[in-house]
Amino acid sequence: MCTMLILGVESSCDETGIALYDSEAGLLSHALYSQVAMHAEYGGVVPELASRDHIRRVVPLLREALGQAGKTLDEVDAVAYTRGPGLAGALLVGCAFAEALALAIDKPTIPVHHLEGHLLSPLLSSDPPTFPFVALLVSGGHTQLMKVTGVGEYELLGETLDDAAGEAFDKSAKLLGLPYPGGALLSKLAEQGTPGVHELPRPMLHSGDLSFSFSGLKTAVLTLVREHADAMSDEFKANAARAFQEAIVEVLVKKSLKAMKQTGLKQLVVAGGVGANKQLRTTLNDEAKRKRFCVYYPELEFCTDNGAMIALAGCLRLQAGTPAKAAGSFAVQPRWPLMEMSVSPTK
Ligand code: KG4
Ligand code: ZN
Repeated sequence: MCTMLILGVESSCDETGIALYDSEAGLLSHALYSQVAMHAEYGGVVPELASRDHIRRVVPLLREALGQAGKTLDEVDAVAYTRGPGLAGALLVGCAFAEALALAIDKPTIPVHHLEGHLLSPLLSSDPPTFPFVALLVSGGHTQLMKVTGVGEYELLGETLDDAAGEAFDKSAKLLGLPYPGGALLSKLAEQGTPGVHELPRPMLHSGDLSFSFSGLKTAVLTLVREHADAMSDEFKANAARAFQEAIVEVLVKKSLKAMKQTGLKQLVVAGGVGANKQLRTTLNDEAKRKRFCVYYPELEFCTDNGAMIALAGCLRLQAGTPAKAAGSFAVQPRWPLMEMSVSPTK
């Protein structure tokens, strides 16, 4: 197949991302705008504001990405964009923009599954994994362990029965009085805490399968906070954050080890926003050394939402034989299980 230049557009939540990915040369440029400061005032993402802000950002970001790469629109071969899952209005902005742009330059589009973007994002790094691998996908909305044998070949090994890991981080951060977005702040605070001061449950650690459940852990944080409501000192908050992080990291690591043993594979890929967590990375790295497997993460800048992973996923989809579609049809899929993307799941 000849060289292809793919433009990627991400707008599923509160980050607008545009990137250019060349099938031969790799990632040429990516431009990102985070709406975090805007939503912080409201303590969380306000969907209507998110959509409006995506509208404001897409064109300047496109110019930035083209400028950085030294490319023009005529050189783009296809436009990949996030079709779902995510916020309906936010997705519609990216979809309408990408479809209209593709129509204008007479090129096809590639609707991309956001989680497939996360899943494949470690392939953007200088030392990428090779198929097959086990993937631990830990984002704000999902917690899944998967066996990945190729692009579009996913077998679900286990997932959360309730809250996602990132959601548990964010909700616990809120309970500790941290501003939005709480997950990353909680993990910073946890670094100052002392392990073992508070003990929190490790839900489903011994369930015997690869399922997760984090809502009980969040309730345990709520109970702890209520018990200390009169004196929420900085020291208490740091120790509570540490206790929460110790618990969630232990569950994520032990279940990942179980998945490695069960599949017999030697590579683990960690993707999604929680993959930026330092304690999770350190613990997994130590275990990988002990158990002699390799663990891969996306570059830190590609752990959270970005256009680069969407451009990459679009390109890999084309290379794997998924046809691009004619531009001009507008459809998003706010709810969309990743397994629907799996053409030939291995058993
Ligand atoms: O993958 P992502 O950007 O968005 C989704 O597709 O959901 O993940 C965002 C999630 C948020 O819940 C955020 O709190 C969490 O990733 N997160 C972290 C850290 N950085 C981001 N959680 C724990 N430790 C971090 N350092
Ligand atoms: Zn995401």
